[in-house]
Amino acid sequence: MISKSPTYSRTTITELMIPSYANFSGKIHGGILLSLMDKVAFACASKHSGEYCVTVSVEGVEFFQPVEVGELVSLTASVIYVGKTSMIIGIHIESMKPKTGEKKHTNSCYFTMVAKNEIEKKTKVPDLKIENIDELKRFVEGKEIKKFSRKKRKLLDMGIESYDKENLLKACSMERCDVSAI
Ligand SMILES: CC(C)(COP(=O)(O)OP(=O)(O)OC[C@H]1O[C@@H](n2cnc3c(N)ncnc32)[C@H](O)[C@@H]1OP(=O)(O)O)[C@@H](O)C(=O)NCCC(=O)NCCS
Repeated sequence: MISKSPTYSRTTITELMIPSYANFSGKIHGGILLSLMDKVAFACASKHSGEYCVTVSVEGVEFFQPVEVGELVSLTASVIYVGKTSMIIGIHIESMKPKTGEKKHTNSCYFTMVAKNEIEKKTKVPDLKIENIDELKRFVEGKEIKKFSRKKRKLLDMGIESYDKENLLKACSMERCDVSAI
């Protein structure tokens, strides 16, 4: 299988934020942006793998600044790391006011996508061809994200389930929840 560079699959989509995308305060719904992130991640992962891909997990979605109606949102997706069947796609999101050219970085996040073949079985993806130090840094960053995401899954799967009532109450002692009905 021939290795492919991040440049080969890098994908940008730009979309105008129209009024029907807005919430009651006139800002763009987070879900609209999430859907665009998923689309660009799919396009990028499919180019790298040469297969249809599914979204497995998402890390780091935070909305730093609101996006307004009339702005142009550009999402650039790049493969930063590949495992055996999975790829981590880094997405950089920027919003621009077309009249002034003023830009703001609204979010960066990471989608893990898995390649599936024609019988819907997960399938091996090409190696990533690293061509500069920046891509090497991103690759190591992706490796850390994969580790972190595995740790988080373990914690969510086992950590809290193993707490008894006393531990659960202790963990909530300084929190804003009323446990008097338990
Ligand atoms: C993704 C899916 C194929 C994983 O299947 P599985 O049999 O559990 O596979 P594995 O545990 O072997 O994981 C396959 C790869 O995904 C990675 N992976 C699995 N779960 C993950 C998670 N929660 N977060 C990050 N990576 C994950 C594994 O590390 C592995 O990567 P590698 O092959 O590069 O080492 C399967 O869960 C699936 O089809 N999910 C539905 C996806 C979907 O439909 N998404 C659309 C949204 S509705």
